[in-house]
Amino acid sequence: MRVSRRDLLLGGLGLSAGTAAAVLGGEAAVRGLTAGTDGGATAAGADATASAPAAGADAPDPALFGRETRPFAGAHQAGVATPPQAHASLVSLDLAPTTGRERIRSLLRILSQDAARLAEGRAPVTDQEPELAIAPANLTVTFGFGPGLVDRVDPARRPAWLAPLEPFPIDALEDAWSGGDLLLQICCDDPLALAHVQRVLLKSARDFATVRWVQAGFRNARGAVGDGTTQRNLFGQVDGTVVPRGDAELDAHVWMREESAAVPAWLVGGTSMVVRRIRMDLETWDQVDRPGREAGIGRRLGSGAPLTGEHEFDEPDFAATTPQGFTVIHPMSHVRRSRGDDLAPSRLLRRPYNYDAVVPGAGGAGAAVNESGLVFVSFQADLVADFLPVQRRLAEGDLLNEWTTPIGSAVFAVPPGATTDARAGGFPGDGLWA
Ligand code: HEM
Repeated sequence: MRVSRRDLLLGGLGLSAGTAAAVLGGEAAVRGLTAGTDGGATAAGADATASAPAAGADAPDPALFGRETRPFAGAHQAGVATPPQAHASLVSLDLAPTTGRERIRSLLRILSQDAARLAEGRAPVTDQEPELAIAPANLTVTFGFGPGLVDRVDPARRPAWLAPLEPFPIDALEDAWSGGDLLLQICCDDPLALAHVQRVLLKSARDFATVRWVQAGFRNARGAVGDGTTQRNLFGQVDGTVVPRGDAELDAHVWMREESAAVPAWLVGGTSMVVRRIRMDLETWDQVDRPGREAGIGRRLGSGAPLTGEHEFDEPDFAATTPQGFTVIHPMSHVRRSRGDDLAPSRLLRRPYNYDAVVPGAGGAGAAVNESGLVFVSFQADLVADFLPVQRRLAEGDLLNEWTTPIGSAVFAVPPGATTDARAGGFPGDGLWA
């Protein structure tokens, strides 16, 4: 007897043909409500049809529901100042040719409704594995608008900095890791929850856009080191020490506060985001001894302290000299070169993640067994004044360049939080349509 895919599906689910039709038609029906129309789904509609984990005897342990949540709504988007979660997936989407101003709005409404629910541990409308949504593990979903998206909505309101970065002499950029119209930065402390969120969002987006690239990244697992411990990159360095901290520094350096030529009204309360994929050559790094490694960065490997200090957060003394008269911190070290002539600490909110893949088939002495690096992410209120000078200096000279190569680059505007609740059709950046 020939068993059709439909028989298997109905049999496997233990459903009658009628019930199965309703279940299988459910997503299509929801899609008709959401993806097909330009206005997007209303919250009431979304709530009424939302999936929910089974109630009764088969329900998951109630103690698991909604554990560790970060609100999606707020004046600023979550995922910027949020303490970095263990895992990230940065998904860059290209809008379909037919996705114009109104359809982009529909897409963002749908994604916001999905993200707002998922962040609370509630399964959204189209979720077919709702149990995977219940423990969001500090999930944040951050939207970044690429130049192409803003141009399709209102080119007159695209700030000049929202464009690909200028080329740098160290770059070996690949299209496969560069650009994009819409970025979804999904961060979460649980890789299973993250995979589920990513699938839900991509299913919602697939009628509007295609995936351009995905960059998965990781830090220490939650609990492996104490909360608040600065992460390490795959060179073994403590990476993320000097960043703006606390509301006053975030307001001063990360959030766009006032409308100006560089900050259109729809971006006040938002920030700019640079994503650079930077390959790190672990094989040649292996050949460097500890003093050489520490000289390259200007900090100690163990504590992350500057070479002139004892503790991670000690301020480097760039004037201190050795008995031979050389500066203790090499003038071409990464930390010295990232600072300008005034030696002021950096204003960039760096929020990088590591990536790592084993190279299949690699063998033999000195073969590169890993393809590794940093998904470098930096948020700053003023990309031109704060990010570009640092990147230009590092591109001109930085001892670390010996072992690092930028292979991807993208710039996004991260709008502020929604002006109205996601349930009422609000979404981050909705001011661009005002
Ligand atoms: C694979 C590439 C990179 C590696 C391995 C790396 C590593 C590090 C490490 C270990 C530190 C010292 C600890 C800290 O303050 O976080 C640091 C600091 C810093 N890095 Fe990088 N970095 C990389 C790329 C970049 C890029 C592309 C930029 C910006 C364009 C950048 C800007 C900075 C800044 C501004 C600081 C703080 C310096 C200070 O004010 O003390 N880094 N980086």
